[in-house]
Amino acid sequence: MKQKISSTNRIEMTFPNLAENEKIGRTLAAVFAAVLDPTIEELCDFKTAVSEAVTNAIIHAYPDSSGQIRISMDRKENQIHVTVTDYGIGIGDIKRAMEPLYTTITNGERSGMGFTFMEAFSDRLHVISRPGMGTTVFLSKKIGVGG
Ligand SMILES: Nc1ncnc2c1ncn2[C@@H]1O[C@H](COP(=O)(O)OP(=O)(O)OP(=O)(O)O)[C@@H](O)[C@H]1O
Ligand SMILES: [Mg+2]
Repeated sequence: MKQKISSTNRIEMTFPNLAENEKIGRTLAAVFAAVLDPTIEELCDFKTAVSEAVTNAIIHAYPDSSGQIRISMDRKENQIHVTVTDYGIGIGDIKRAMEPLYTTITNGERSGMGFTFMEAFSDRLHVISRPGMGTTVFLSKKIGVGG
């Protein structure tokens, strides 16, 4: 039997900055969007965008300590809004951080493409950050409306 889809839904989760939690964020995004019958491409894009935001919070926000990360997902009909918040070091120059290939980790492990992917794979991306206070990434995507 086909499941009846409610017009709105919301989930929220808080987890510590452990590498293993990237997968939880990515899976959460996939499960949350699944009700909208996304195409494989929509699902992959959405998962990638959310996972880049979560990975950034895990890797960059708390360089020498542990800290909390909060993810929320809101759905109104086919529109999903996601926030990923950390309370870490923040980003001094957001415009620069969002440039393709810009990374502050220069040991070759990162490519500086996270924000570029988030931008490419979502409909809207917005970042607010205060040095020493933390960062919130807002992203939204419309899913399952054909085309
Ligand atoms: N949550 C965050 N807290 C603090 N700094 C951040 C955060 N997210 C991003 N940054 C800064 O912005 C830079 C660019 O981020 P971006 O995701 O584009 O690249 P990256 O994470 O360095 O590399 P990649 O995502 O390709 O592995 C990071 O190197 C980091 O300095
Ligand atoms: Mg990144």
